[in-house]
Amino acid sequence: MEMTKTLGEFIIDCQAEHPHATGALTAIFSSIRLASKVLHREINKAGLVDITGAVGSENVQGEEQQKLDVYANEKFKTALAARGVVCGIASEEEDKYVNFEEGNSQEGEYVVLMDPLDGSSNIDVNVSVGTIFSIYRRVSPVGEPVTAADFLQPGHKQVAAGYVIYGSSTMLVYTTGNGVNGFTLDPSLGVFCLSHPNMKMPEDGKIYSVNEGNYIHFPTGVKKYIKYCQEEDETTQRPYTSRYIGSLVSDFHRNLIKGGIYLYPTARNYPSGKLRLLYECNPIAFLAEQAGGKAVCNPGEAIMDITPEELHQRTPFFVGSKNMVEKVEEFLAAEQ
Ligand code: AHG
Ligand code: MN
Ligand code: MN
Repeated sequence: MEMTKTLGEFIIDCQAEHPHATGALTAIFSSIRLASKVLHREINKAGLVDITGAVGSENVQGEEQQKLDVYANEKFKTALAARGVVCGIASEEEDKYVNFEEGNSQEGEYVVLMDPLDGSSNIDVNVSVGTIFSIYRRVSPVGEPVTAADFLQPGHKQVAAGYVIYGSSTMLVYTTGNGVNGFTLDPSLGVFCLSHPNMKMPEDGKIYSVNEGNYIHFPTGVKKYIKYCQEEDETTQRPYTSRYIGSLVSDFHRNLIKGGIYLYPTARNYPSGKLRLLYECNPIAFLAEQAGGKAVCNPGEAIMDITPEELHQRTPFFVGSKNMVEKVEEFLAAEQ
């Protein structure tokens, strides 16, 4: 019988290739793996137990918190605090960054930034949601409380990043800067198995993903690019197909596998864009680039080169197949 490599085995093999590794990253991945299995279990009970709907509170960004937003945040936070290798976290669902004070956590060398539940609006209607995470080495001295500077690092400083997609199956996809690998949860065993080794994003694609309801408010370059996607042209296989789930993880995951572009530009309600640089755009950009794709906020400006100024900062986001992102950059540049 051919045995598939599990996520645990894969991580241990990777650690063995780095003899000076302390095992801290391995421990962080164990925490994320555990919390994501707990979340998988709860999400699969949606509709049966009281976990759908809103809690009646808003997060710091003025968004209505769903019960699963709060649940996911607690589970990931608790799992990450438990092993003493993470000294603090920042989360879309927390007003401020959290300093882990228990045990020997302040000896931890890493901070984790996360969107515990991405695509909240999809929970109640049985559509895929996700979790996004981003890991940095702290810049403040080990043994002291974390500082804002630990979290406000540009994306190219990420040590690792990934997402979990709770879809028709649950998958964990991550990078440590050495390619992208995807693992599918076998629910009968409770084990993630390497199902998508060395994932590569096609350089070209035929899918564009954008909330077209905001069209009227988009910048002219984006409007013209959308029209370009819809035009007929045999050599470039246009018109492209429009696909938009409304969950960044799911929209990106599809485009990663099939080839495509995801756009969340500035819009009337979102003068700086909607998506959060630290919890959503940087980790997805890291994965995209590691898979051969591209991610920018403006023409010629890589997402991962932005120096963050605040925790919940938003940015316009264009991510996907390299040639498609370069095409939208051309349209944006022409209108500047
Ligand atoms: P979250 O559920 O974490 O707040 O993220 C929702 C984000 C993202 O996942 C998605 O792509 C986008 O918001 C959808 O926004 P619109 O509904 O405005 O299209
Ligand atoms: Mn999100
Ligand atoms: Mn979220």
